[in-house]
Amino acid sequence: MKPSPFQINRRSFLTRCAATAAATGLPLWFTERELAQAAAPRRRTLSPNDRPAIALIGCGGMGRGDTGNAMRFADVVAVCDVDAGHARAAAKQFTVEGRTPDTYGDFRKLLERDDIHAVIQATPDHWHTLVNLAAVQAGKDVYGEKPLTLTIDEGRRLVRAVRERKAVLQTGSQQRSDRRFRLACELVRNGRLGRLEQVTVFLPAGLREGPFATAPVPEGLNWDFWLGQAPKVDYVPQRCHTTFRYWLDYSGGTMTDWGAHHNDIARWAIGAEGPVAVEGRALAEPIPGGYTAFSEYEVTFTYAGGVRHVVRTTRDDNIFGGVVKPDGQRNGLRFEGTGGWIWVNRGEIQASDEALLRTPLPDDAPRLEVSNDHMGNFFDCVRSRRDPVAHVEVGHRSASICHLGAIALRLGRPLRWDPTRETFTGEGAGEANAFVAREMRKPFDYDFLDRG
Ligand SMILES: NC(=O)c1ccc[n+]([C@@H]2O[C@H](COP(=O)([O-])OP(=O)(O)OC[C@H]3O[C@@H](n4cnc5c(N)ncnc54)[C@H](O)[C@@H]3O)[C@@H](O)[C@H]2O)c1
Repeated sequence: MKPSPFQINRRSFLTRCAATAAATGLPLWFTERELAQAAAPRRRTLSPNDRPAIALIGCGGMGRGDTGNAMRFADVVAVCDVDAGHARAAAKQFTVEGRTPDTYGDFRKLLERDDIHAVIQATPDHWHTLVNLAAVQAGKDVYGEKPLTLTIDEGRRLVRAVRERKAVLQTGSQQRSDRRFRLACELVRNGRLGRLEQVTVFLPAGLREGPFATAPVPEGLNWDFWLGQAPKVDYVPQRCHTTFRYWLDYSGGTMTDWGAHHNDIARWAIGAEGPVAVEGRALAEPIPGGYTAFSEYEVTFTYAGGVRHVVRTTRDDNIFGGVVKPDGQRNGLRFEGTGGWIWVNRGEIQASDEALLRTPLPDDAPRLEVSNDHMGNFFDCVRSRRDPVAHVEVGHRSASICHLGAIALRLGRPLRWDPTRETFTGEGAGEANAFVAREMRKPFDYDFLDRG
């Protein structure tokens, strides 16, 4: 099989370039470009009836849900997990007519296969970027779970790589393919509420528990690989599967978990790349030795035009809808303008006056991109090579808002943000900018992708 570019590790690649330059007398930049081009993976063009081969990386609850959904469009040929039990269970689940997907413990090995067209990426947040980068460098398209990144710096790197490689990347923020959220955003953008003054996002409160005891690493789990770039610690069951999202080492609490959905919708309606100011207040302190992300909090973002975007946690755990109180105290979003309000969540859309929803927008009103099937939109774009509805910049910018909120909560002071330069400015900027990137534990840093 032809080696993929990250199989040729960077050091040996540079040695080969230097040797070619020396032997031919040609400039180094020229030989580097030529060799890089020769090694670049070729992406096979799909015809409308092709069923691409796909792989799942991260075989937990969401990865298996996403992959089941993707099987409407594609064939699963490989699965990968650092927990062998999860990989085995996924391989069994995705066996079709006696064809069982191959299992892997190291995504770099899986990505060496050139029969795989796209990957579903559903690892915990601290692995998202390295896996996504490796996939696009290997010429794959990616359906990558939200929040797209662990840090703002990761997002900038991923945007660059996706654009350079012309990959198709859909962020798994499926509310972008939900009619109710699109209607709310379209109405707000078209001034149906008059001047938009405030968007309030209600997120479920996170878990506040602990302290937790260490335990022996379960058989089949590669704990060091699972930890990846995060600090090395003894195994604690609550740090691992599913509840990793309540630890700042691996995620950002509900601010980046549910927040990746609702803050994305808030930003879609506001139509801005990001806020210019943020401040946060924790309403409950974590328990020492327990989950480290704040469970209850309030964060306020301010945008250049003066719109406020307030994020509040709610203890109402009926997170998928149900009976919605008009005062909007459930998980969801409330848009308030000079001419009324709209409340929307995954189950319902309501307004201060029904006519705000019922009156059609004019034919020439600016409309938002239509997608009513998030996974279907991804596979359409895999064929057409167009940008999906939650493309890489969408995922990066919406994750950035969540990261800004988490940073403001950690620092507990007002901060100013420049969304164009993607940097904090003014008082406290030095301390805040230190959170824009994180130190990655070796060997699980960016060089890890060259060491395959
Ligand atoms: N779009 C949505 O509505 C939605 C809902 C739930 C979860 N998610 C997202 O999906 C992701 C996974 O969440 P989950 O609840 O399924 O978590 P999970 O803990 O159940 O699954 C994660 C899996 O990834 C595996 N893993 C860890 N590191 C890996 C690596 N380096 N290579 C391969 N596998 C690795 C774990 O062993 C585990 O099996 C999270 O980022 C989460 O935010 C999205």
